[in-house]
Amino acid sequence: MAGKIKAIRGMRDILPPETGRWQAVESAAREAFALYGYRELRLPLIERTELFARSIGQDTDIVAKEMYTFPDRHGESLTLRPEATASVLRAVLENGLDKGGGVKKFYTLGPMFRYERPQKGRYRQFYQINCEALGSDAPEVDAEVILLLMEILKRVQLGASRLLVNSLGCPECQVKFKAGLGLFLINKEGLCEDCQRRRNSNPLRVLDCKSIHCREILKDAPVLRDYLCPDCAGHFTRVLALLSRFGVTYEEQPRLVRGLDYYTRTAFEVVAVGLGAQDAVAGGGRYNGLAKELGGPDLPAIGFAIGEDRLLEVLPENLGQGDGKKVFLAALGPGARDKAFSLLQTLRQEGIAAEMDFGERSLKAQMSQADRLGAAYTVILGERELETGQVVLRRMATGDQQQVALSLLPMVLAGL
Ligand code: HAM
Repeated sequence: MAGKIKAIRGMRDILPPETGRWQAVESAAREAFALYGYRELRLPLIERTELFARSIGQDTDIVAKEMYTFPDRHGESLTLRPEATASVLRAVLENGLDKGGGVKKFYTLGPMFRYERPQKGRYRQFYQINCEALGSDAPEVDAEVILLLMEILKRVQLGASRLLVNSLGCPECQVKFKAGLGLFLINKEGLCEDCQRRRNSNPLRVLDCKSIHCREILKDAPVLRDYLCPDCAGHFTRVLALLSRFGVTYEEQPRLVRGLDYYTRTAFEVVAVGLGAQDAVAGGGRYNGLAKELGGPDLPAIGFAIGEDRLLEVLPENLGQGDGKKVFLAALGPGARDKAFSLLQTLRQEGIAAEMDFGERSLKAQMSQADRLGAAYTVILGERELETGQVVLRRMATGDQQQVALSLLPMVLAGL
């Protein structure tokens, strides 16, 4: 006999009732996006490899080691998207969505793919809620984007968490900082192989190294804050002041650099308490140079992505559950089953979720099925009930039963 086929390592099925929690998070996000004027984009999962190589950066772990890249049937190199920002920008530029004044605000939800070592909170297919605001470098937009992120996290009842913020400066600040960091790293022994290479090609990446040895060495490294030009310093100060004005608690984290190369100025992450090693539930920042990098106009932008898989690990178990009022129709005998089938459709048309079983099963079996389905009420319908026109309505949580006239049932249920 052939063996069973299993899902690929690092990729998992998300099943009911868990999917109900995911829907709750996504609807909360959609509601918040609508409040802040964001509209949805639905984008391809596959793009030309060059899009990610050019935007995320050749020296990043994502591009160097983690992309699902393959040739298509004509030999063109394609990649399963490891993140959404590059695709959003590609779509915005390709479709002229950047035209006209004002801030352009988009969100997109869906799976991303990174060939990382799977562990708790880290998957090879994972899901992001992605937000991008394009067309303005105003610090108010930075503050608004962070406020929106905090609003979504509040709506889904995220418990203890920390918002970490930093400024990565503009390209000029970064050139000076890289020189300073390069000098600091020049004689350092014990850096990992990757960092020895990166110290020449892209010293900023050394700051994002996960190796404990490298982290130890970097403890005394210079920080970006000390290299900010007056404009960037002023921008950052204003962002922080706005966050304070709206009561957002943040921590300045001078060593926060993020894992992608496109960031400029504001960068931030939200880490959840109690998540262990993979504790970042959201991350984002400005990427003012990316549109130009992709052949477009000067289009300053900022955004974030929430990692849904990780977020759901720390959210309440009962999120989005328990507010349904499902009814199960337990019918005994062919006549009752036929009547129940009509009643089923009547209830659904009244907006009441209803289910029944179409087999010839005992009352006991049907009652346990009602339990399994999470029905709040069961209606018991036998041949006798058909004759009298009275059915039994049972409240599952307490076991209380009452007689109800069949003709009044939709009204009674709607009022419960
Ligand atoms: P990122 O920090 O690479 O940023 O990812 C954002 C979030 O996605 C992380 O904080 C984490 O929660 C989740 N995540 C990343 N990798 C995995 C994984 N292998 N398994 C589970 N969750 C994961 C970005 O992707 C940027 N595009 C964010 C952004 C939008 N910046 C500006 N706009």
